[in-house]
Amino acid sequence: MREARVLVDCRFAIGETDHRLFGAFVEHLGRCVYGGIYEPGHPTADARGFRGDVLALVNELGPTIIRYPGGNFVSGYHWEDGVGPAEQRPTRLDLAWFSTETNRFGTNEFIDWCRAAEVEPMLAVNLGTRGGDAARNLVEYCNHPSGTQYADLRRAHGYENPHAIKFWCLGNEMDGQWQMGHKTATEYGRVAAEAAKMMRWVDPSLVLAACGSTSRNMPTFARWDDEVLEHTFDLIDFISLHTYLNNYKGDSASLLASPDLMDLFIEEVVAIADAVAARRRSSKRLMLSFDEWNVWYRTRRTRGDRVKEGWPIAPPILEEVYTMEDALAFGGACISLLNHADRVKCACLAQLVNVIAPIMTETAGPAWRQTIFHPFQQMSRFGRGRVLRTRVECETYATSYYDPRGSIDQSFPIPAAPYLKLAAVAGGDGSLNLFALNRDLRQPLQVIVDAHGFGHLCLSLARELRDDDLTAVNSKVAPERIRPRPLEGVAVDGGNISMRLAPASWNLVRFEPGTEPRH
Ligand code: AHR
Repeated sequence: MREARVLVDCRFAIGETDHRLFGAFVEHLGRCVYGGIYEPGHPTADARGFRGDVLALVNELGPTIIRYPGGNFVSGYHWEDGVGPAEQRPTRLDLAWFSTETNRFGTNEFIDWCRAAEVEPMLAVNLGTRGGDAARNLVEYCNHPSGTQYADLRRAHGYENPHAIKFWCLGNEMDGQWQMGHKTATEYGRVAAEAAKMMRWVDPSLVLAACGSTSRNMPTFARWDDEVLEHTFDLIDFISLHTYLNNYKGDSASLLASPDLMDLFIEEVVAIADAVAARRRSSKRLMLSFDEWNVWYRTRRTRGDRVKEGWPIAPPILEEVYTMEDALAFGGACISLLNHADRVKCACLAQLVNVIAPIMTETAGPAWRQTIFHPFQQMSRFGRGRVLRTRVECETYATSYYDPRGSIDQSFPIPAAPYLKLAAVAGGDGSLNLFALNRDLRQPLQVIVDAHGFGHLCLSLARELRDDDLTAVNSKVAPERIRPRPLEGVAVDGGNISMRLAPASWNLVRFEPGTEPRH
């Protein structure tokens, strides 16, 4: 059996987790909105058409902020189409997903849904086919109290009080040729800067995120981010980044190592943002918004196969069925996000329902939890607090991660992935929460943790997510096949912890302060 040693001290923190680190994403794409969060006539739907079973699962999952309405969709979106009397809204071709958009659901319905789900809304504006003018009008519609055209239009639509939306994305993946209105870094940087300026003039309290590179494997990565920040640095608060992990090659060890490239990506974007700051002699530190992340490859599409006969409404596309193995890689990504809590202050799991999602539904039928639901739920519930610096000593393995871009084959070396990937979070209640991934596919891992400064800890929760079959999934007929189960073999004596992690397992172990046992 392998062994890993971990040193952690409650006084040495990486940073505090921001509540927005536990976000998700709802796009007008496939059955995410229609048949997902919104399905009038569903047995659990309320008078507004919001599915009650989905709301209950969202509540259990625990996202804090939800990005909307895209994604690629937003780059062709006319927000005006989605407000006002539903029967008067236009039906349009959506060129992002080659679908028909009915606009039955729009900004106000989304805000109502967020209030029902008790999450914060995050809006993206269209900087693909539109620009700063449409963006500042949307800010006026949403956030200006009254007495102007768009504020009064909102009031006429039944929303007397402003929506007070704080967090705004300046477009989506503008570096990608698949994007409507795709731009060079210079073109986007200028448009984003002008949009940001005008949006802030309408509402100075906005928090703004500019589009960084779509992914680390983009040919323009780093140069794009650098130039976009040259134009926007003084006007924005966040730079975005996206990652979808894959296992196209059927190489599980490499999939489980791939979150280490997320670590690298984050650190590279931080370096670029800080280099731009240095060039300006600025002490400002931009934060990162990882506003799309997940595992996604089986249902990925290229532009050619997006075309569907007949421009369907809400077709069942991108309905990735997540395996046990995906949940492990996903858990590794959770650890990467937590371990960069000092700079990644916002992140959105892409997406929320049906479309590459933790929650699946059947139209007119039930809803259930996919495998990836569980690491996210545990991270959101137990990951709030101070993420601690950890020293992990453990054997490593070398691998190469295949991450193609379109038809171009690309591999990225990962020379030393420790078998143990771990994050430690000190809760405000004195607790210590360990998130631990054993990436060894065959051997268990004995983990010895030396936890300083916590006093006497008592075990309060120990759960593992594992299955002998890495391809096992949850489904309508077996919705609970993969779920957290009790983890045996955890011992604690003061601050000395030992735990035995099964091969290929994701684990959550929580300790709470206790009183010293009397001898
Ligand atoms: O989340 C699915 C798609 O992935 C989004 O629309 C786009 O931003 C990304 O490429």
